[in-house]
Amino acid sequence: MNVSIIGTGYVGLTTGTCLAFLGHQVTCVDADEQKVQALQAGKIPFFEPHLAELVDDVKANLTFTTQYADAIPQAQVVFIAVGTPPGHNGAPDLKYLEAAARGIGQYLAGEFVVVVNKSTVPIGSSNWVESIVRDAYEKRTGKKANGVFAMASNPEFLREGSAIFDSLYADRVVVGSDHQRTREVMYSLYRPLLEQTFKPPSYVPRPDRMGAIPLISADLASAELIKYAANAFLALKISYINEIGQLAEKVGADITQVARGIGLDARIGMRFLQAGIGWGGSCFGKDTAALVATAAEYGLDAPIVKAAREMNRRQRERVVEKLLDELKILKGRTVGLLGLAFKPDTDDLREAPALDIARKLIERGARVKAHDPVAMERFLEQYPDLDVTLCATPEAVAQDTDAVVLVTEWQQYRDLDWKSIKCTMRTPVLLDGRNVLDRGVLTRAGFRYVGLAG
Ligand SMILES: NC(=O)c1ccc[n+]([C@@H]2O[C@H](COP(=O)([O-])OP(=O)(O)OC[C@H]3O[C@@H](n4cnc5c(N)ncnc54)[C@H](O)[C@@H]3O)[C@@H](O)[C@H]2O)c1
Repeated sequence: MNVSIIGTGYVGLTTGTCLAFLGHQVTCVDADEQKVQALQAGKIPFFEPHLAELVDDVKANLTFTTQYADAIPQAQVVFIAVGTPPGHNGAPDLKYLEAAARGIGQYLAGEFVVVVNKSTVPIGSSNWVESIVRDAYEKRTGKKANGVFAMASNPEFLREGSAIFDSLYADRVVVGSDHQRTREVMYSLYRPLLEQTFKPPSYVPRPDRMGAIPLISADLASAELIKYAANAFLALKISYINEIGQLAEKVGADITQVARGIGLDARIGMRFLQAGIGWGGSCFGKDTAALVATAAEYGLDAPIVKAAREMNRRQRERVVEKLLDELKILKGRTVGLLGLAFKPDTDDLREAPALDIARKLIERGARVKAHDPVAMERFLEQYPDLDVTLCATPEAVAQDTDAVVLVTEWQQYRDLDWKSIKCTMRTPVLLDGRNVLDRGVLTRAGFRYVGLAG
């Protein structure tokens, strides 16, 4: 099929590349000229494992442009994957979505096209986008838009860091639509994925015992709510284990054992039960805020989601409180942060805990050093005013510091030679913000090991 994708960020580029891999002819549009030029030259504008290889493998099926005119008239399916960043009062800012919808409407050719919202959008946005596309089409052509296009909602569940894997081997595909014809188009588009009939790329193999992927066919509002409800649930799982972690610390229990003990219950599940600094990234904070804002529009309070947000905010403060407990005075101290990205295997810094922690430490007069395997360049670009000294290695971060905080659980930090590192620190305080290091090993190495819970 002929597919166009509006927005080539983490979601749009991954989606476009995977659809090209499935055999579709894909045109990716982005308003950012530099990004498009980089993509045309075969460069991926952000770090995502295996994306560069896959883009290269499917380049015959994939083109990049800044022009809607090059992408929309021939498309059978148009995905909207533009950003929906946080706006006022918790509601997302929809200006990019509005511009994308208008651009699509201006170039629709008159054949039936499915316009798919893949961006995470407030409930009811499909109707809103439909009205913008319709107005733009009718204004340009002077004709009624009936039968020219139909809306679908296809929320995205990929995780940065494993975006290709999550797209090719999704747990489910959700398609919201009000028309049978739209559902049929979406089914044809995703058929090789749903039935897992494609030959997997060697570098992202299909998991053992992977069967067909369930397709959840829903109405538009349900599909939109599924996305928010899923993200809020994952967020509150993290906040729940952090709440239990605070209690574990008081009663002398080990939160890792507690998490395993409850997570092996199939009704609960192990994932997202890792106590620590809490979530960051572009989705959980924004989407939980949007869910609370939507609930408020309907006179509801959403107290559980609000509490999850508050717990997450508190965890970041606790890092600074723990350092204060250990060092007593932060003024004039040097603290090293291991990890800047909001999680491993990405260079995404949106709502990364490291930023908040660095700001809070600097406010209290501490000096901050940091390292990240892939996010330092982006940090310099996006946060030139944040006074953090970047170091080429984790060892250099630790050198002459009063404390080191493990902020992002990159594998390479788990495997460090901690014994040698300890000898270079001013005081050997190690705050394991992700509860992933071995307390026994570190204590024997002479560290004062501080966990965030238990
Ligand atoms: N990043 C994730 O892990 C993730 C996961 C699931 C869902 N989502 C949702 O997907 C959406 C996109 O997220 P992202 O992380 O890919 O964002 P992003 O910021 O990485 O990418 C958005 C892209 O859209 C482009 N753009 C903006 N306005 C445009 C326009 N009018 N026309 C063409 N291009 C335009 C921007 O230049 C940018 O390249 C958001 O709604 C987000 O909540 C993100």
